[in-house]
Amino acid sequence: MRRVLTTLAAAGLAAGALTACGDDSNNDSTRPAKIGVILPDSASSNRWETADRKYLEAAFKAAGVEYDIQNAQGDKTAFQTIADQQITNGATVLMIVNLDSGTGKAVLDKAKNQGVATIDYDRLTLGGTAEYYVSFDNVQVGKLQGEGLQKCLTDLKAEKPVVAELHGSPTDNNATLFKEGYESVLNPLYENGTYVKGPQEPVPAWNNTTAGTIFEQMLTQANNKIDGVLAANDGLGNAVITTLKKNGLNGKVPVTGQDADTQALQNILVGDQCMTVYKAVKQEADAAAELAIALSKGERKDVPGKVTDPETGRAVPSVLLTPKAIFFDSVKDVVADGYVTKADLCTAAYEAKCAEAGVS
Ligand code: BGC
Repeated sequence: MRRVLTTLAAAGLAAGALTACGDDSNNDSTRPAKIGVILPDSASSNRWETADRKYLEAAFKAAGVEYDIQNAQGDKTAFQTIADQQITNGATVLMIVNLDSGTGKAVLDKAKNQGVATIDYDRLTLGGTAEYYVSFDNVQVGKLQGEGLQKCLTDLKAEKPVVAELHGSPTDNNATLFKEGYESVLNPLYENGTYVKGPQEPVPAWNNTTAGTIFEQMLTQANNKIDGVLAANDGLGNAVITTLKKNGLNGKVPVTGQDADTQALQNILVGDQCMTVYKAVKQEADAAAELAIALSKGERKDVPGKVTDPETGRAVPSVLLTPKAIFFDSVKDVVADGYVTKADLCTAAYEAKCAEAGVS
């Protein structure tokens, strides 16, 4: 096996960015196979840095391929610069989590023009050209959130509850799919008068701070009469819970989420959050890494699914994994799956609740 070394200075990348060296025997010797990954940010959800990066790294290391994982930190210009650098530095495969479809498409198109294969990781780039799309069934994620909120409101015997909705980023296609899922559950309940449709707003860039401000306004305008909150992910949910706490309403108003973030699981344990949706990111990272590694060797793997790009009608070969709803009694399943450790979850303040929920 020939070792491929690229100087970090020449690569223009931060120290430590090039982490593995691999066998490039299947490739043009002047252009060693390298996989570039661009994560979106580290503020909209902890998952990108704590889970996706870790699992992708493990998969690439196990396969002995060279890779470079960068994070655009919510900056669309930086996103494009990273992509350009990765291609210049020999990436033959690019895997992106777009910040919006427009800038994502620009990156995918440029890559394609330079013979670089691409994968849409977690978020579909509308109008894009990626070889594969690897994600979860995101309409199902939303459905689980809607059904979860319904279950918690029923458990509380809420009568004609006013339900507020905090959608994800309007430029994230996933947010559209989550909304489609939860509204398929909630809209009929609004329409038949079981629930009262409260305020609804998207949260630009999934910004948690903005979510707090939005929810504070919602609550004030509603004179505190909000009885349930469909928050599209755990970061938004936690911002809502923080506001509810200030008003002495936490635990009385069920809040949803997504990502099985440690903080969210703790919120569930103490009763401040109704539920979250666990997406086994390891499965997602493993599936995407497997496809990326094959592409880097000039191979193409068949995948089971197809998703139609609503803008172009293109059938994108896809892997869509199954999400799982998590309530108090199933928090333990996330720990059992190795996504969160008991040590991180069951700190002193949560020890008793962990025991009650059977977390071992
Ligand atoms: C992902 C979620 C994440 C959100 C914010 C979505 O595209 O599917 O897991 O919480 O982005 O980063």
